[in-house]
Amino acid sequence: MADNDPDRRKFLKVATCALGGGVGLVAAVPVVRFVLDPAGKTTVSTPSEPLDLGNVDRFRVGAPPRRVEVIAPLVKDGWTSARDVVLGAAWIRRIEPTKIEAFSAVCPHLGCAIGWEGKDFLCPCHDSRFSVTGEKTTGPSERGLDPLPVQIKDGRLQLTWVRYKTGSSSREPV
Ligand code: FES
Repeated sequence: MADNDPDRRKFLKVATCALGGGVGLVAAVPVVRFVLDPAGKTTVSTPSEPLDLGNVDRFRVGAPPRRVEVIAPLVKDGWTSARDVVLGAAWIRRIEPTKIEAFSAVCPHLGCAIGWEGKDFLCPCHDSRFSVTGEKTTGPSERGLDPLPVQIKDGRLQLTWVRYKTGSSSREPV
């Protein structure tokens, strides 16, 4: 018997299309998720734990500040991981055997690299100067050098890397 009912044919056509579209959509979801992941997530994990800067006796008591690179053993993002990543640099001064001060070498003005000039710190970009204890003495920087947390553990110096917002009088981590 021939099927000449146009309504039935139309219904079957729509139902077949809907079913096919639904199956296609279900199959596409994992593919789309795989391609997009991890976009939109916070994926870069810069270490927030203390990083080892070596034997504390590398730093002589009373010596001028010494610049050290701050290196993370492992940094991961959503797709890759990298070893021995240089996060930045710090100026370290050992005031007493167990009293150590560290400043970020990132200028709080606009982020240039701070240098040591014999008796104070200088940023060569816009001539901001900072005392040995980190206070701003001259120049456009709106605050002093940014201190970094340090500790001595089992004879090793450990430093926690923090990057602060530049160009502001308040010290806010970014
Ligand atoms: S970036 Fe250091 S003074 Fe401007």
